[in-house]
Amino acid sequence: MLLRRPGYETLVVEVGEDCVGTIILNRPEKRNALSSRVVSELLGALRELGEDERVGALVFTGAGERAFAAGADIAELREKTMLDALSPAMQALCEEIEGSDKPTIAAVNGYALGGGCELALACDLRIAAENARFGLPEVSLGILPGAGGTQRLSRLIGRGRALELVMTGRLMDAREALSAGLVSRVVPREELLGAARELAGQILSRGPLAVRLARLAVRAGGEADQATGLLIERLAQAVLFASEDKREGTAAFLEKRPPEFRGR
Ligand code: COA
Repeated sequence: MLLRRPGYETLVVEVGEDCVGTIILNRPEKRNALSSRVVSELLGALRELGEDERVGALVFTGAGERAFAAGADIAELREKTMLDALSPAMQALCEEIEGSDKPTIAAVNGYALGGGCELALACDLRIAAENARFGLPEVSLGILPGAGGTQRLSRLIGRGRALELVMTGRLMDAREALSAGLVSRVVPREELLGAARELAGQILSRGPLAVRLARLAVRAGGEADQATGLLIERLAQAVLFASEDKREGTAAFLEKRPPEFRGR
């Protein structure tokens, strides 16, 4: 059963018995464009679910058949000034998503453009429906992708491919996104949310502290030189070797029973 959290106008926020929190962008008539209201509600939902110990992982998706999110709200964008761009709420939101303690999955249905694509890029994992289309079309509007798109896309798929998307604004379909490594899986539309929850469930069944530190090692190590990355890996492993979860995981394997991890 899914319990719906009250207090959101532009989002549907639900938490299932499987401990997966789902944040659904809910302005399908505007292709889930990221207005300032949406961005502030996203920040609120992220914090609410982030602080909720019952929630183990977060899935982001879009309502309707056409879009995950069609980027910044262009009507609002038209009025924005240089000073607004110096403290970009959407860039801060993406940093908060990336810095979340909980695993994050973008379940991309339809268009993920501009800020929508950048939101997906800030998540740990991206899975796509067959109708997903990714792109950073900002140059068509005379601006650049300002919510991390110039940085995260090239780190994920390589500078050449990223520059092509950033400089032309062309869109990539789900198949191309899969071969580029932008998404890790493509599924039929009707299976998308189920597949995202299942993926979250798999992660949640593993040692929580191990998942948390492995994720940290990949993320922090990826931003450092290899020797520093290996040092982070060693230190994280040393923490895990002192954990109850490691004792439980190894004992459960040897006793041929499922582990009961406690996240410490
Ligand atoms: N900001 C504000 N409104 C948007 C929007 C956006 N980013 N994207 C779509 N909309 C609105 C349209 O203005 C339209 O509103 P209306 O019904 O009041 O006229 C409604 O959503 C439907 O859009 P439409 O273009 O008819 O839908 P579509 O399904 O044919 O096309 C897209 C979908 C996403 C391809 C197209 O809407 C688009 O290119 N959007 C802009 C994408 C973009 O440049 N994003 C980067 C922003 S920095």
